[in-house]
Amino acid sequence: MSLHHKINIAIDGYSGCGKSTTAKAVAYQLGYTYIDTGAMYRAVTLYFQQKEVNISNLDEVDNALKDIEIRFILNSDSQKLHTFLNGVDVENQIRTPEVAAMVSPVAALSAVRKALVAQQRAMGKNKGVVMDGRDIGTVVFPDAECKFFLVADIDIRTGRRVKELALSGISVSFEEVKNNLLNRDHIDSNRADSPLRKADDAIEIDTSYISIEEQIHKVIDIAKNVIAQN
Ligand code: DC
Repeated sequence: MSLHHKINIAIDGYSGCGKSTTAKAVAYQLGYTYIDTGAMYRAVTLYFQQKEVNISNLDEVDNALKDIEIRFILNSDSQKLHTFLNGVDVENQIRTPEVAAMVSPVAALSAVRKALVAQQRAMGKNKGVVMDGRDIGTVVFPDAECKFFLVADIDIRTGRRVKELALSGISVSFEEVKNNLLNRDHIDSNRADSPLRKADDAIEIDTSYISIEEQIHKVIDIAKNVIAQN
């Protein structure tokens, strides 16, 4: 058992920089809990689509948010974390291009952010979480002991996302994926509430030309050093 106190680790950055793969591996190796906050925004988006919520009507949004319960459950066969929306496993549904196309406008709504940030803070209140997202180091856990900000070349990010989707049986063109990423970057970085930006004390890692193993190794090394000092 470690004599050190647990810390919170924030991993922010653009889509397709390997945030979730890195966060998952880091959490596994440290015995921490991994929380994919993007999945939470995707689950809300899926719910809004299913219920045909008009996102320009803030009363409708507020009412719908009251009916949403999101949970993560580890699938013991695949060892993969699955997102559950109101008790239903929606892990595959939230990764579709239809959800990806709508998630940024939904994530720009302050009511949505307020509800999800409260849940994220509760999940990390006892420390020992690795959380990936866009505003973890700036808004959710500004006091996180260890913060990373991942960036990568847009064509490389696109290629990674195309491959990931293909592995899930979804075939989308390079151009379509690239446009979705650029569009989401734009909305996520320019929204009024909690825009995507690097926290002043975050360590930036350009993942364009390093392997995922190197990337994980780098983050774990730094995190272990911080843990040793706590
Ligand atoms: O990481 P991802 O691609 O699954 O995230 C989906 C969207 O959710 C992303 O375009 C922006 C939004 N998001 C956010 O606004 N804040 C977070 N902490 C995580 C994701």
